[in-house]
Amino acid sequence: MADAHAFHDAVATWYARNARVLPWRGIADPYAVLVSEVMLQQTQVERVIPKYGAFLDAFPTIQALADAQPADVIRLWAGMGYNGRAVRLHKLAQEVVERHGGKIPRSADELRRLPGIGPYTAAAVTSFAFGEHVPVLDTNIYRVLSRVVHGIDAPSRDAIHPLAEAMLPKPGSPITPADWHQALMDVGATLCTARQPRCMLCPLRPHCAAAPHLQSGGDSTLAEASVPYSPRQSRFQGSARYFRGRIVDYLREQPDSGVEEDALETVLRHAEAASGALCPMSLADLFAALERDGLIRRQDGRVRLP
Ligand code: ADE
Repeated sequence: MADAHAFHDAVATWYARNARVLPWRGIADPYAVLVSEVMLQQTQVERVIPKYGAFLDAFPTIQALADAQPADVIRLWAGMGYNGRAVRLHKLAQEVVERHGGKIPRSADELRRLPGIGPYTAAAVTSFAFGEHVPVLDTNIYRVLSRVVHGIDAPSRDAIHPLAEAMLPKPGSPITPADWHQALMDVGATLCTARQPRCMLCPLRPHCAAAPHLQSGGDSTLAEASVPYSPRQSRFQGSARYFRGRIVDYLREQPDSGVEEDALETVLRHAEAASGALCPMSLADLFAALERDGLIRRQDGRVRLP
């Protein structure tokens, strides 16, 4: 395994000079950390930045979020996609208020029992908000650690987990575990990218098993060597999720009383024209799926946000 001390030193020095300025960094409020991590689950950093500020302005505390109408939470989620997260975050706030006295639990196990919180988000919140010594393995951190230790042959994420745990900075290290994770995210996002790693600028280059392979080849070698780390792109336009999103987008702009169900038929046809694809589900099936996920409510032939 790489020399952990040298590794921590290199990352700490680099991070002190090169950290991205992100609004959720250095924030001690667990609620704000949790909001940022749920947003970052499936939305890119640049898109999250303005939404994060607007969301906390509207719902500055977990109590304020628990008291909100789901429709208002869904409206604020506009532009981030995966709207089900807004519904689950609202439910999470209500559960934390009802079952935990409004205090976000500290342990990853308890966090994981809350709506919308998977193993990654539980670890991230417990590390960033509470300073717990647990490994956080998002796509970027996984790629960085995997390359450094295993070179260009990517092992599974499960195989990296014990390594990530062993490499956590201990007390007395020049970097805290929380900053270590934030720093590795920055290395992964800005230098150790999937397709065009910039090894010459990387603080980990002297310790990295992949660097000799990644630096020597031309662009095609880089692309091939990096394929296991590239997320597969799903064809979003024309998928059921795309059309569900267009329906929610339309309802966001409508008054709380909603619209006649029939009006959504026109919305669907416009979305089909715009995307050049036919919706793979009937409007009735889209409604059923959206209702099941708590994103719409139907009553007396009308449909609205909940
Ligand atoms: N992706 C997930 N969590 C993140 C964070 N805290 N900072 C930057 N990117 C992230």
